[in-house]
Amino acid sequence: MQVGKIFSRGDNVPTITLIAHTGEIHTLDVEEGTTVMEAAINNAVDGIIGECGGCCSCATCHCYIDSRWLDKLPVRGDLESEMLEFASSQAGPNSRLACQVEVTDALDGLVVTLPETQL
Ligand code: FES
Repeated sequence: MQVGKIFSRGDNVPTITLIAHTGEIHTLDVEEGTTVMEAAINNAVDGIIGECGGCCSCATCHCYIDSRWLDKLPVRGDLESEMLEFASSQAGPNSRLACQVEVTDALDGLVVTLPETQL
């Protein structure tokens, strides 16, 4: 199942940065419409599991959005907020489920930090 394309640097697509709990940095070029969870999985980034495949029913894609980007994202939905209560790492005001964050041109440069654990 292909859920998004992996692009090479230089393509005109949004770039996002995922920062692992260990400090490892992954900068990814991501096709618009791909979720942050899909981008992480497609690029074998540790720290995102995405067990439910993006159905907002597992919370194994918990991530922390850099504060500079919070107001650029759509508001967190009720179901997403409820699922975050089951996240294994402490959720905070900047917590999101990566499967619910769709990358758009407006999110070019998005920075996301991954929690220590998803299980
Ligand atoms: S992948 Fe399951 S809630 Fe995001």
